[in-house]
Amino acid sequence: MAVMGAFHFNEGIPISNSLLLLLLLLLLPAYVSPPLSLPIKPPPFRHSFHKLPHSQNYPLSNPSPAPPLLLLFLLHSGSGTMEHSSLSLLFHLLTLATYVSARPATFLQDFRITWADSHIKQLQGGTAIQLTLDQSSGCGFASKSQYLFGRVSMKIKLIPGDSAGTVTAFYLNSNTDRIRDELDFEFLGNRTGHPYTVQTNVYTRGKGDREQRVNLWFDPAADFHTYSILWNHYHAVFFVDEVPIRVFKNNEARGIPFPKSQPMGVYSTLWEADDWATRGGLEKIDWSKAPFYAYYEDFDIEGCAKPGPESCASNPNNWWEAPAYRQLSAIQARKYRWVRVNHMIYDYCTDKSRYPVTPPECTAGI
Ligand SMILES: *[C@@H]1O[C@H](CO)[C@@H](O)[C@H](O)[C@H]1NC(C)=O
Repeated sequence: MAVMGAFHFNEGIPISNSLLLLLLLLLLPAYVSPPLSLPIKPPPFRHSFHKLPHSQNYPLSNPSPAPPLLLLFLLHSGSGTMEHSSLSLLFHLLTLATYVSARPATFLQDFRITWADSHIKQLQGGTAIQLTLDQSSGCGFASKSQYLFGRVSMKIKLIPGDSAGTVTAFYLNSNTDRIRDELDFEFLGNRTGHPYTVQTNVYTRGKGDREQRVNLWFDPAADFHTYSILWNHYHAVFFVDEVPIRVFKNNEARGIPFPKSQPMGVYSTLWEADDWATRGGLEKIDWSKAPFYAYYEDFDIEGCAKPGPESCASNPNNWWEAPAYRQLSAIQARKYRWVRVNHMIYDYCTDKSRYPVTPPECTAGI
């Protein structure tokens, strides 16, 4: 509020339309410019979620500074005496631009801690975080808004060494119980020298049980890698760096539900799940190696935020709906095949003991 005061309009301070227009022109591109390349995102996996404590609201220790657009908007709303002219239109454009949110600079700009404040530490001025798992607790965070279509991506450096029994999850979830939509990345730890497994799952209108597993072809604890989910009217695609590891196509025309009407929040958690995570629960967590640390940075959510204008999600001009994002490119398709042939270790589509009749989405192509 002290910050706001410095900028607050009152009748005595004339701020010309042209100055505001200039500000607008300077600020707008940062909020609407399309990404240069297709980025990446991650989610989690199922059993676990039921065991997680639910979104307790922790007070945020370092409120992030308000972005300039927000300042302008607040200025505007505070200025009851201003004429409703072109200025008003400009401000509507400004606020509209903020709904298609752009790359957040800091963790707290878009996220809040939902589980164990004490186990999430902000680093590098809040542009990165450290998650801790020890015998007392795991931890978790969630986006402040929900989104309908867009792309979520983060860079993650997973727990190094002996991470067996730990699970790091990154997912989108509509939080609507029986008709839940969800897109999950879950990183299952392993004994030193054995590969991390990425499990993905897709829930549409409450129906999940669509697990796939891929063993990572690199050490995800040695460096940061980008994990992302692209979600538009055509498909939901899970990426590990530039490699698509899963595609869930919109096959509504064939009667297969596709997530398209419920906004989803972005979530992440780090917890212990040694009853199932590593080699089906055979490998237990080694607490003598605790605390376990995972690191996140480059938080990036671009999508139609809810609450926000209804028209955003159906706007064909959103970059993530563009033709280039409606199907895999030839290069992406080649990478996708490479992963499936060389690194996929489980696919519910081919699990005859679970699904004697192949689920319809498995035969409807990518
Ligand atoms: C762990 O390593 C084993 C042996 O290399 C492998 O079979 C398994 O897929 C890996 N991942 C998990 C989560 O168990």
